[in-house]
Parts: sequence; structure tokens; C-alpha cells
Amino acid sequence: MKQFRDRSAVITGAASGIGLELARRAAAEGMNLVLADIEHGKLEAAAATLGLPAERLLLQKTDVSREDEVAALAAAAFARFGGVHLLCNNAGVGLTRVTWEHSTADWEWVLGVNLWSVIHGIHHFLPKMLEQGDAGHIVNTASVAGLLSTPGMAAYNVSKHGVVTLSETLYGELAAAQAKVGVSVLCPAWVPTAIHQSARNRPDRFGSATPAAGLSAAYEERMGQAVKSGRLTAADMAAAVFDAVGEGRFYVIPHRKINHAIQLRMDDIMQLRNPTPLG
Ligand SMILES: NC(=O)c1ccc[n+]([C@@H]2O[C@H](COP(=O)([O-])OP(=O)(O)OC[C@H]3O[C@@H](n4cnc5c(N)ncnc54)[C@H](O)[C@@H]3O)[C@@H](O)[C@H]2O)c1
Repeated sequence: MKQFRDRSAVITGAASGIGLELARRAAAEGMNLVLADIEHGKLEAAAATLGLPAERLLLQKTDVSREDEVAALAAAAFARFGGVHLLCNNAGVGLTRVTWEHSTADWEWVLGVNLWSVIHGIHHFLPKMLEQGDAGHIVNTASVAGLLSTPGMAAYNVSKHGVVTLSETLYGELAAAQAKVGVSVLCPAWVPTAIHQSARNRPDRFGSATPAAGLSAAYEERMGQAVKSGRLTAADMAAAVFDAVGEGRFYVIPHRKINHAIQLRMDDIMQLRNPTPLG
């Protein structure tokens, strides 16, 4: 997808962090914006910083883990701007616990927001994007957690590995169909955002997570510190995404220092070694 001006972008999780910076970049590119988030007040405040005229902007409160709400988002986006050209399935949440301390509700929440959201997004947007006949692109936000298996983040890792393979599968299918719609997967390492405070968005139906203790608490503390100390910013992620979309590049892995860990995992697999601990 080469042309952004006067095209329409839908961005989920746009009230904060990477989603907000994707919105800022899309606005600067001259796109119409449909911004979705579960935190509507924060979304309104964030959108006000974009300086967009009302006719180029639609805000929609959306819980992306719920199929009916993603379907409503798609209907609203197509109705408002007559088409969708860039879909960023970006909303996500993190949870840090040892695997045996994840409750069923923890799994359902994290997989719902991080993986089912992308499934719903593809299901409710892509057929209509293909029918449009215009160039378009889907960007799924995964994580380097979708390429590695860092301890203390089982549900998060499973969700992001799911997003990576879903995106790779879709890439092959869109290429085989010679579609004008492309797909990329964004795999950041640590970026200073509010991801370590994800519990703020945990819907009541999942209850609260049990407070972390022992090893889970140590992992939680380390994750929070790692997020805060991330060197690349959310704006850097948005810049990398727009470069990749313009070039039709699939893998967007802005933190190149993580390559050695990815290589180590691949070598473990190829040599049938036990997984090298990531610390
Ligand atoms: N920050 C990092 O270190 C990092 C690293 C790798 C991947 N990611 C991924 O980047 C994406 C964006 O996260 P971020 O770092 O900007 O965090 P963030 O918490 O700053 O932003 C996430 C946004 O998603 C929204 N959200 C949460 N649950 C939702 C739901 N059910 N429906 C709709 N919106 C919901 C939040 O309200 C928030 O605005 C996520 O998919 C995350 O997994 C982040």
C-alpha cells in the first residue's frame, strides 16, 4: 500500500501507547481515522491531541475481545468513510504470572484481547477490504513474545505466537490470491507504554487476577521495569509500521538486538536441544 492520503485507517487500542502513535502517524499522512478502545474517555482525550477535523475522525468504544463489538466497529467504519484501507489490530494486554498461577479467567482475558481480537478483526474487515478492489493493508501487533518463550508470560506468549502464525498464514493466502490487500506483523520488544498496567482494562466478567507472590511477583516486577526502560518509543514503532506497509514488508521487528535470542531458539529447535533459558 503506497498511498495513505484520503484513505481510511482503523486502529484498535488507540487511546494509549503504540496505538495512539499509529493514530498520530496516520493523521499526519492525511488519513481518515476510526479509533477504537475500551477506555473511551481516554480515547477522546487522546484523539483531541491529534488536531484532526471532526469529518476525518470516528471514535468507537470497543471491547475487541467481543465479536459483536468488532462487527459493529467494522460496520461503523465502512458506513462512515465508505471503505477501510489500513486495519491495525493493535489492542493488547499483558499479564505476568508463572503458568500454573494463571486462572482460567486470566487465559480467557488475555487470549480474548490479544488473539481473538485479531481473529474477529480479520473476519469482519478483510472480506470487505478485498471486495473494495483498492490497495489495503492489515497490521497485526504481536510481540517478540510471539517469537520467543519468555518465562512468566504464558498466556501472553501463547496469544502472540498465535498472532504471528495467523499473520504468516494469511500472508501466504493473500499472496496466492494475488490480493491487493497485504499483511504485516509488528513484533516489538520492550516499549515504554502503559502495557504493564493492563489490569486497568480487565472487564468485570473476568474478575481480578490473584495478587502475584513469589516467582510471579518477581516476574511482574521485572516486566514492569523492562517496559519502563525500553529504549525505542511507541512513535518509533509507528514509524517502523508505516515504512513496512509502504514497502509491503511482512515482519516488523524494530528491536534488532533481540535477533540473537530468536536465533538461539531456532538453533535449539534445529539441533533438538532443550530450550536455552531466557532468564
Ligand atoms: N509496550 C511493549 O513493551 C509491547 C511489546 C510488545 C508488544 N506490545 C503490544 O503492543 C500493543 C499495544 O500495547 P501498548 O504497549 O501500546 O500498551 P498500552 O496499554 O499503552 O495500550 C494498549 C491499549 O489497548 C487498549 N485495550 C486494552 N484492552 C482492550 C480491549 N478489550 N478492547 C479494546 N482496547 C483495549 C487499552 O485501553 C490501551 O489503550 C499490544 O498488543 C501489546 O501486546 C507492546
